[in-house]
Amino acid sequence: MSRIAYVNGRYLPMRTAKVHVEDRGYQFADGVYEVCEVRGGRLIDERRHLARLTRSLSELRIPMPMPLAALGVVLREVVARNRVSYGVVYLQITRGVARRDHAFPVPDVSPGVVVTARALNQVRNEALAAKGIAVISVPDNRWGRADIKTTGLLPNVLARQAAIERGARDAWFVDNGGNVTESASGNTWIVTQSGAVVTRPADHAILRGITRTVLLEVIKAQGLAVEERAFTLKEAFAAREAFITSASQIVMPVVRIDNRVIGDGKPGPIATALRREFHRFAEPG
Ligand code: PDD
Repeated sequence: MSRIAYVNGRYLPMRTAKVHVEDRGYQFADGVYEVCEVRGGRLIDERRHLARLTRSLSELRIPMPMPLAALGVVLREVVARNRVSYGVVYLQITRGVARRDHAFPVPDVSPGVVVTARALNQVRNEALAAKGIAVISVPDNRWGRADIKTTGLLPNVLARQAAIERGARDAWFVDNGGNVTESASGNTWIVTQSGAVVTRPADHAILRGITRTVLLEVIKAQGLAVEERAFTLKEAFAAREAFITSASQIVMPVVRIDNRVIGDGKPGPIATALRREFHRFAEPG
């Protein structure tokens, strides 16, 4: 079965799904995106993802191309046409097509909309989460607005590649003050020796993850102590547990950072419990 993509109003087989060479997403990364988890064929936390999309677009002054309800229909249609039961749906909106010039096009052009969906291997993901992953730290050299979910991901790409070349799976960004900001494609967390769950506040240095928002509710419901504050890489080395959250990984335990073993080198009880509980709190579509 050929994969199907939605491109500017049409559902097309992947091999013919193309965008214009002067799409500003292609030339300037002048666009935003969202990734939603699909579980049992349903979109998870669609409402929150579309709310964040609305904010990203408005921060970049890209108009919303269609009503949110219509966008929701397209997302579900792409999931259905690709028969994705467990996986992710990807939505990208760019400023549109115009002759290359840095300033916004005049007159306005229509935003470009692309949606794809992809099945993930649930057995493999669960096995990975049961084992935990190794990460490396890299300097956070991104721009000052990591809170906007733009397609400009070159530092994230290079960080992930560096991790793989060093035998790890992911990278944690560390700012000039020695504080961990987030990972190449997720939010970062530690559990301190005293049992507090710590994650950085959602300022302009990180993306306010939807998984992060929901997980904060899970943590509170479990009666765990939670601290939204900056934490250093040094603190992470000494943590009892560490983990990453994102729509595609939910809660992924981290068992090594820069080759130092975290806790006892296995996924900890808190990360494991939070992963198990997450979908009782997330909104199924
Ligand atoms: N990444 N921080 C960054 C830099 C991210 O790219 C992501 C998501 C997150 C977590 O956000 P959420 O919980 O809403 O998925 C944090 C997606 C999954 C990606 O780029 O594939």
